[in-house]
Amino acid sequence: MKRKIIITSDGSTTIHLPGWNESYHSTHGAIQEAYHVFIDNGYKAVVKNELSVLEIGFGTGLNAFITLLETAKDQKKVNYVGIEAYPVREDELLALNYVSELETRNLSHKFEEMHLTPWNKPQQVTPHFTLTKRQMFIHNIQDLATFDLIYFDAFGARVQPELWTEEIFELMLNALKPGGKLVTYAAKGSVRRAMQAVGFEVERLPGPPGKREMLRGTKK
Ligand SMILES: C[S@@+](CC[C@H](N)C(=O)[O-])C[C@H]1O[C@@H](n2cnc3c(N)ncnc32)[C@H](O)[C@@H]1O
Repeated sequence: MKRKIIITSDGSTTIHLPGWNESYHSTHGAIQEAYHVFIDNGYKAVVKNELSVLEIGFGTGLNAFITLLETAKDQKKVNYVGIEAYPVREDELLALNYVSELETRNLSHKFEEMHLTPWNKPQQVTPHFTLTKRQMFIHNIQDLATFDLIYFDAFGARVQPELWTEEIFELMLNALKPGGKLVTYAAKGSVRRAMQAVGFEVERLPGPPGKREMLRGTKK
């Protein structure tokens, strides 16, 4: 499928798939969306000094990188697992501007390290942040009561409806510890009902720029 790097409304880049008219991030602002959905309503909602995070759809590594930046501020320890079936190409990674837009040029080697690190092997990127990238499909997740937080960042239900089903939400519920949370940019009624059907307690929260709402589920 054809892929193109585009600039979103906050000046940060994303990868656009014209064939699907779908992007890796919101065209209203990739960095803004990532902070709003995953950091402010996810990471900051887990009150723990050490946490395990599962990201579904590691993609460009933006969510992983901003989580690493948070750990440098709050000194929490994060064990981060990123699942990705189709790793982003090197030429695309080189065209992304997250390090400069986040004014973290001094940490550009950390962003690179996250991408260069081998798959399926834990890598301590900083004293506070350990990353394991797993190259696999979502439906093969088998973790049980392992994670405090899931960033569910798959492509939308319009283009990948098979990833927004009760079956997939059940795998994610099982992967969470009791009290664990899942955040996603999605707000569709069908997604909320699928989450509720498998047992998530679901909150509708204000969405990032350009979106009215987003969802957060908690495992009871
Ligand atoms: C919305 S993009 C992810 C954005 C990513 N979090 C980032 O910050 O760049 C969705 C990601 O899910 C991946 N993906 C699509 N289908 C998948 C599947 N069945 N299993 C695992 N990953 C999948 C895509 O390759 C893509 O990287």
